[in-house]
Amino acid sequence: MHHFEYRDGKLFAEEANVTDLAEKFGTPLYVYSAATFRRHFKAFDSAFSGLDHLTCYSVKANSNLSVLKMLAEEGAGMDIVSGGELYRALKAGVAPEKIVYSGVGKRSSEIKEALTAGILMFNVESVAELRRIDEVAKEMGLVARVSFRINPDVDPQTHPYISTGMKKNKFGLDIDSSLEAYKLAAELENVEPIGMDCHIGSQLTSIEPFLEALEKLLNFYEKLKGLGIEIKYLDLGGGLGIPYEEEEPPHPSEFGKALMNKLADVPLTVILEPGRVIAGNAGIMVTEVVYTKSNPSKNFLIVDAAMNDLIRPSLYSSYHRIDEVEQRGRDNQEYDVVGPICESTDFLARDRELPGIEEGELLAVFSAGAYGFTMASNYNSRPRACELIVDGDKVIVARKRESYEDLIEKEL
Ligand code: LLP
Repeated sequence: MHHFEYRDGKLFAEEANVTDLAEKFGTPLYVYSAATFRRHFKAFDSAFSGLDHLTCYSVKANSNLSVLKMLAEEGAGMDIVSGGELYRALKAGVAPEKIVYSGVGKRSSEIKEALTAGILMFNVESVAELRRIDEVAKEMGLVARVSFRINPDVDPQTHPYISTGMKKNKFGLDIDSSLEAYKLAAELENVEPIGMDCHIGSQLTSIEPFLEALEKLLNFYEKLKGLGIEIKYLDLGGGLGIPYEEEEPPHPSEFGKALMNKLADVPLTVILEPGRVIAGNAGIMVTEVVYTKSNPSKNFLIVDAAMNDLIRPSLYSSYHRIDEVEQRGRDNQEYDVVGPICESTDFLARDRELPGIEEGELLAVFSAGAYGFTMASNYNSRPRACELIVDGDKVIVARKRESYEDLIEKEL
């Protein structure tokens, strides 16, 4: 459920007319709905209300400071993967004891920053990282709380580029090595193992792989107890999918229920790291058609947004629904919706049925709230887009459009 809807054929973001926003703020333009963010967070978090749990929003999905602030106000913790994300989360007012830090390549400086802040725990992805954290904590005279990211070797049945929990992936430790890693962590003086973690992939549309991973982790938990290692947290990562096209992912309440069945008697605090399911359908990207053009085999809509603004279609062949911002009741035609960048992979949609669109019209690209702006770049020296948050009838500029000066600022 989101708060982007047509009223008399005109697209609204909550109480704001999207055409008016585009006229005032220009295109390409990201428009987020505050009510949708809040609603998605609440729906997800309350799905686990029967359990001792902490929902740590995954910052990488949409890291705009105003978005993070809004979620922090709802009580969200955060899942971070870099010093930059830590900086943002702290700036947004997130309590450090609600921050977990994942990622395979944490540098010493980043580990130090996280220890200084006093985060809840590091999700450690290798023995080398464990030793590094121990060293840094020792220098600082601290004990670092850690959990290991266990790679359960489960097929999440999603796009290979966003699958993370299989043997061939770079993430985490395999189950057998994990036991040795916990023994080492228990021996080292400046780390304390307090949890177990896994994240098997993103845009999962069924519950089965989560349950399969959970079962493996719970078996492992018994082994840990056998070794006398007492932990307090079980971090199940993120990954719940959203409907982009015809997918029918489980509702968070269904997801919550399925997990809670298995966790009811497990005396651990459960951590969840949802990103896409909170942010994905809380944002659209608005773009203007610069030109139309046809050749004997194709019709092209050349728009002013490109793969530098939204790379998902180019990188993962992802589907994003595209629609007119003002419906005019015309017959459909087939189009490739492409951007101005000098690459054949610069497209937002291929062979897409859309009503006969004309130059100067606005299009809305839906489900662009997650991994949209956060993956944007300046390729082809294109200033990054403006980000707005609509909250009822209030419009907040969450990030100004970049200028040409911004492009070269660091080069002078
Ligand atoms: N936790 C960890 C450790 C992760 O690596 C991720 C995502 C998440 C949580 C959040 O997953 P989510 O709930 O959003 O599925 N750029 C890709 C997605 C990459 C996801 C990377 N990790 C895309 O646009 O589909």
